Amino acid sequence: MRISIIGCGQLSRMLALSGWNMGIDFSFLADKGESTACISGLGDVVIITEGMSALEMYQALGRPDAITIEREAVDVALMKELKNFCPVFPDPDIVWKIQNRHREKTLVKESGLETSPWVRIQDEEPLAEAIEAIGGLPVVVKSTEDGYDGHNQWVIDSADHIAAFEDDRKLILKGESQHKHAQFEWIVEKKIPFEREISVIGARNVDGSIVSYIPGENVHKGGILHSSIVPAPHLSDVIKTKAEHYISALLKKTGYVGVLAVECFVLGDELIVNELAPRVHNSGHWSMNGADTSQFENHVRAIANLPLGSTRHCGVAGMYNLLGKTLSDNTAPPTALVKPEHFLHWYGKTSRPGRKIGHVNVRADSQEELAEKLECVRKQWLDS
Ligand SMILES: Nc1ncnc2c1ncn2[C@@H]1O[C@H](COP(=O)(O)OP(=O)(O)O)[C@@H](O)[C@H]1O
Ligand SMILES: [Mg+2]
Repeated sequence: MRISIIGCGQLSRMLALSGWNMGIDFSFLADKGESTACISGLGDVVIITEGMSALEMYQALGRPDAITIEREAVDVALMKELKNFCPVFPDPDIVWKIQNRHREKTLVKESGLETSPWVRIQDEEPLAEAIEAIGGLPVVVKSTEDGYDGHNQWVIDSADHIAAFEDDRKLILKGESQHKHAQFEWIVEKKIPFEREISVIGARNVDGSIVSYIPGENVHKGGILHSSIVPAPHLSDVIKTKAEHYISALLKKTGYVGVLAVECFVLGDELIVNELAPRVHNSGHWSMNGADTSQFENHVRAIANLPLGSTRHCGVAGMYNLLGKTLSDNTAPPTALVKPEHFLHWYGKTSRPGRKIGHVNVRADSQEELAEKLECVRKQWLDS
């Protein structure tokens, strides 16, 4: 069996590594100029060239049995064309919905799940009316597309913040913004005074079987995931039950095949969906060493229509992201971070400040022990 993945980053690498164990072959579809360092040695790479047809891509990929994706920002029209030759998971229509925050939140609402109230504004539509429509400040404004790691977002809590957004909007409309803006539309959503952020990750296979992982807590710094803690501490039974319901409702409603990640805010017994990711997710990396079956293996099993693996977790688990510290071509793994109970996952990428270049998973018997171990990894990484 052969699976092809659109994209050549670390998620592709970890998907391929888990599939190789089951005797599955891989090939990868790369955009022109895309780095393929992460998947070096793991399968054929096809670089998309000008005028190449979907059939030519499918053939060059080695006529795969299924095609999947590792990123959300993918060419949906191309996914649809490839679907003429073999199954493509998740379905391009679902990816299209999730690619745009307005469509994504509409899907969440239509699935009967909670999400923060929002209004979409386009071009020069007034922000003040939108803020009023959702009950006043504070709000978060986000571009409907081209947002990641906190980019293209404005937290608005005062008249000064409104003015700052309007200044940025002028630059965006003139095409002079430092960040990419494919379209001029935003969602204005209520800022939630959440207690914690959790991820709910689940998988559904072609047959419709569903599994889900216990929710983990996500700690972000500067808009980037810093670490995950599993199980998320202090979760009430109400939240746990809601989490299971949310993931299975979304998987079933969309007829989803593969791994889906749902980022949520917890506020008392309210579980509020923030955003969805139609792929394996950074907040599920702990599962490589903390669960019977990793999210990567379950994604491969799901799209290969194999029975999904047990998602049982072992005690307490955590993940610390290794973010690049300097600009450097050095891709040598920091093996000093490998300890009896530290599991290093190194992506082989060149380092840039803030870039995700690896992670370390840890296991523990208690939350206190886990916190100590994560702190130890953090210090070792910063000192290395
Ligand atoms: N409505 C909100 N209320 C409070 N905090 C928010 C809200 N939306 C986003 N945030 C904060 O900003 C972070 C990034 O926002 P998110 O929508 O997840 O975008 P990204 O695509 O950058 O991950 C969230 O993890 C959360 O900490
Ligand atoms: Mg997010």
